[in-house]
Amino acid sequence: MGSLFSSSISLRKSVKITDDEFILLRDFIYEKSGIFVDIKRKYLFESRFSKRLAELNLPSFADYIKFLKYDSMKAAELSTLFELVTTNETSFCRDMRQLDAFQANVLKEKIDEQRKAGKLELNIWSAGCSSGEEPYTLSILLHESLKMELARWKINITAVDLSPAMIDRAKKGVYGDYAFKTTPDDIKKRYFSKDAGGWKIKPTVAKLVNFKQMNLNDSMSLKRLARSHIVFCRNVIIYFDEEMKRKVVGSFYDNLMPGGYLMLGHSETLHKISSTFKPIYHPGTIAYQKEG
Ligand SMILES: C[S@@+](CC[C@H](N)C(=O)[O-])C[C@H]1O[C@@H](n2cnc3c(N)ncnc32)[C@H](O)[C@@H]1O
Repeated sequence: MGSLFSSSISLRKSVKITDDEFILLRDFIYEKSGIFVDIKRKYLFESRFSKRLAELNLPSFADYIKFLKYDSMKAAELSTLFELVTTNETSFCRDMRQLDAFQANVLKEKIDEQRKAGKLELNIWSAGCSSGEEPYTLSILLHESLKMELARWKINITAVDLSPAMIDRAKKGVYGDYAFKTTPDDIKKRYFSKDAGGWKIKPTVAKLVNFKQMNLNDSMSLKRLARSHIVFCRNVIIYFDEEMKRKVVGSFYDNLMPGGYLMLGHSETLHKISSTFKPIYHPGTIAYQKEG
């Protein structure tokens, strides 16, 4: 027992990273994902990567950087790297005030427009969907708005994330209590069923969502996505620097149909990033519209 305890302590001992190693690793991560880590958060690399270095039997960050660049396993390691650098915090019905404003204004407008045009279809893109709570919430909002009429609509929610592990979890659709911390009880009861591992999203809700592992830094792949009426990208661009924010917001602009909307997280803004969208103010949210 004593030796097991001390060996797990030594495995968890943090490996120190030099400033040069930090910059090399930081630039590598930025090139691959657009995620920018400030040098003030150097300690984060030490705490998050030390266990991985021990698993790979690598004594230093310099060795890990070589591994990422030249090893025959480098492609697979990239997925692990993404797991380690991303923040996947999310929950169902996150920011209910924004979602209420979205449902009453943006979603209603798009539904009315499509009905008037006789095109009962809607494409929504959830960019940076983490473990699926956001796109499933959007599917629930559509169920709430369209009720019985939903059966006549063709709805596609495309949900993408950098992290393959998050996409796998999202596809399983089984959640523990933490995922419901911002969720009204009646929503949980109506749209989930009790499962051995937690609460499972009902098939009618899951059916509208298609998950894909995708990097928002990869503009060419993003161009292949279906054009959207609405893009949700909440709590994702905060991890990017200005150049990457411009690039990603440019991809959203190109993807949106004229008159389409971009929804960001409550602490995010297009100020200094893009002037091509028109901000529409609603109590609880700003919806950025691509003028058509
Ligand atoms: C904090 S979560 C936000 C989840 C959800 N949008 C929400 O607001 O609850 C940020 C997500 O963005 C994803 N992400 C970060 N960089 C990305 C990139 N370059 N391409 C795709 N997804 C990315 C992360 O993997 C993570 O799951």
